[in-house]
Amino acid sequence: MPGMTSDPAPVTVIGLGPMGRAMAATLMAAGHPVTVWNRTPGRAADLVAAGAALAPTPADAVAAGRLTILSLTDYRAMHDILDASTGALAGATLVNLSSDTPDVTREAAAWAAGHGARFLSGGVMVPAPMVGTAAAYVYYSGPERVFRDHEPVLGLLGAPRYLGEDPGQSQLWYQAQLAVFLTALSGLLQGAAMVSGSGAPVGRFLPDALDTLAAIPAMIGSGEDLAGELDTRAYPGELSTVSMMGATAEHIVATSGSTGVDTELPRAVRSHYERAITAGHGKDNWAALYEVIRRDRR
Ligand SMILES: NC(=O)c1ccc[n+]([C@@H]2O[C@H](COP(=O)([O-])OP(=O)(O)OC[C@H]3O[C@@H](n4cnc5c(N)ncnc54)[C@H](OP(=O)(O)O)[C@@H]3O)[C@@H](O)[C@H]2O)c1
Repeated sequence: MPGMTSDPAPVTVIGLGPMGRAMAATLMAAGHPVTVWNRTPGRAADLVAAGAALAPTPADAVAAGRLTILSLTDYRAMHDILDASTGALAGATLVNLSSDTPDVTREAAAWAAGHGARFLSGGVMVPAPMVGTAAAYVYYSGPERVFRDHEPVLGLLGAPRYLGEDPGQSQLWYQAQLAVFLTALSGLLQGAAMVSGSGAPVGRFLPDALDTLAAIPAMIGSGEDLAGELDTRAYPGELSTVSMMGATAEHIVATSGSTGVDTELPRAVRSHYERAITAGHGKDNWAALYEVIRRDRR
């Protein structure tokens, strides 16, 4: 069967939001026996109907799996679930694919180790419906031996990208990617609100907005040129200068105000340009905003 691992080891999934349910279904489709646990048991119904086992307690869930994947809103939820069951952790392998900060993740890795568990952290870099597809990838960090032991089964969820032994690294990269993602989504809604605030149909605006997002890779290319600029902290170019883009940033604030929509996001963007111009980067390429965002002084 395509996608089936040679060792269909039992896997536990704790947390059955959209992401946890997608991961459990993907593992089951590949032939793994899957045990699930969720604070709200009713969310397990479809998986149980498809053959998953619903553990009565978190301790039973951890005991049932060769590894336990956690898919929760944050790491606090992991502690809410497992702090009363730490006796079940000795010898277990936890793979926490929930979002949190690098520091909280490092503390959790130490907590798990203190209870005799092996611990990997990670971040799924695609929306739940894309889990298990060729486009999916997942960041991991933590002990390499633990990662390699479980790489085949983790690979069913999406291509694993291992970032080293520090458990905080996968969160750092996850949050950095989500900074790109969440800011782009807020930008999309900002534009939509400006158009609809003026009384125009948002449905006509959105396809053009998606073209604008798609033009960003075309503008940046493979990313090598931009990486070179950011690495050398030199920003040549006259196509999209800070002063030109900064004038537009001011116009976006004014137009947001005149269409009666929130100006918080456009003012943050304008602030990047203003501070870059003040620091003497007006004639540089737009990427010189990096000097403002990095905040360090060379
Ligand atoms: N959804 C996506 O497309 C997506 C994409 C990439 C990454 N992620 C990440 O994957 C993780 C899970 O995402 P999701 O969309 O499935 O999240 P979600 O819908 O918020 O589900 C969160 C899960 O956490 C549980 N939970 C939250 N607080 C809890 C607590 N205090 N005690 C016990 N259980 C608690 C919920 O239990 P109940 O069911 O009882 O509420 C539920 O099982 C998140 O860290 C998210 O950032 C999600």
